[in-house]
Amino acid sequence: MILEPTLSIASAENAMQLEWQYGAHNYHPIPVVLTRGEGVFVWDVEQNRYFDFLSAYSAVSQGHCHPRIINALIRQAQQLTLTSRAFYNDKTGVCEKYLCDYFGYDKAIMMNSGAEAGETSLKLTRKWAYKVKGIPQNQAKTVYAAGNFWGRTIAAISSSTDPSSTNDFGPLLPGYIVIPYNDLNALEDTFKSVPNIAGFMVEPIQGEAGVVVPAEGYLRGVRDLCTKYNVLFIADEVQTGIGRTGKRIACDHEGVKPDLLVLGKALSGGTMPVSAVLTSDEVMLTIKPGEHGSTYGGNPLACAVTMEALQVVEDEKLAENAASMGEIFRSRMIALSHQTDLIKSIRGKGLLNAVVIAERPDFGKETAWEICMKLKANGLLARPTHGDKIRFAPPLVITEAQIHEACDIIEKTILEF
Ligand SMILES: Cc1ncc(COP(=O)(O)O)c(C=O)c1O
Repeated sequence: MILEPTLSIASAENAMQLEWQYGAHNYHPIPVVLTRGEGVFVWDVEQNRYFDFLSAYSAVSQGHCHPRIINALIRQAQQLTLTSRAFYNDKTGVCEKYLCDYFGYDKAIMMNSGAEAGETSLKLTRKWAYKVKGIPQNQAKTVYAAGNFWGRTIAAISSSTDPSSTNDFGPLLPGYIVIPYNDLNALEDTFKSVPNIAGFMVEPIQGEAGVVVPAEGYLRGVRDLCTKYNVLFIADEVQTGIGRTGKRIACDHEGVKPDLLVLGKALSGGTMPVSAVLTSDEVMLTIKPGEHGSTYGGNPLACAVTMEALQVVEDEKLAENAASMGEIFRSRMIALSHQTDLIKSIRGKGLLNAVVIAERPDFGKETAWEICMKLKANGLLARPTHGDKIRFAPPLVITEAQIHEACDIIEKTILEF
């Protein structure tokens, strides 16, 4: 049999059928088949245009197919893509320096997916616990907040409080403690009462949990407690980082610097998996040659793309734009909530927002899903998270006219229900 790698997909139906027949059933997508993207827009195979209000879970912050990032990708792809770290190349060190200067750390380690960066932060934390803090071998504990999400590996799901992440995947990793989110008393009680704690990993805003924003002062409190009890503060900014919430990283809202900064998603502007952990010499240098790595981690292609993607965020002032467009978005949604009881609440920062939907008797738990289907029909793509919340997170390049047009679509759709 001759395989045709460029098999053309005749119809949306065909594309969905192929995924269903030959792919794992591990996702439940909105039924739309996309073929092209530019800026804040994506097009389906029937050439319908949509506002992308998911941005691939905040990875496409710089907008789809940003010309500068794509050019950097093509230039580097024609030069050198992968050497492995068995040899030096002329991009990895340059990119590591760029990352350190950009985010203000001594050292960076580059990986691929967000989950891998999270796992890297766990390994660094455990090494530091044994080599620097002096915790007895195999006794180190790490603390997480309920509702956390940092990926799908066994290390990541071991801290999950969502049964659909953990059911039938046990046994999970030992040495984990989960406490309530946004609860400094619980954190201090744990630090006081449980021996051998090495680190506390936390999202400054919980993304997958439904854009849960902690009380003002929470991050500062976390910083102070971690310093007081000699525990590493690990900020998972895979979703909140790189301008998404209106600052370079979300911890900047409270002026705090985590000991380990975990980044992913928008590091590559939605072109390829790139993640990184930034930290101090004291933590990073606990890992010696042969103790951690990844074949693709820090490859020249990823490095060229990452530097351009981050420079675009700076040059186009995307964090500042996220802050001001986010204000417009939330004020439009608040005004809308006064016209309908379908909206229970609105929360978020910058362009990471969620609207909590009240159930309608005819749709029950499917109400948010049905609204997303209607949004699609009206030209905007978004997805529910945890049943009753719709996350709205467009690319940060969105203009004022575009955010108003998108809000008009949301308003029309919600009022139709
Ligand atoms: C906060 C956070 N951390 C980590 C991850 C995992 O990233 P990846 O899907 O690239 O493994 C995600 C993914 O949604 C995330 O939202």
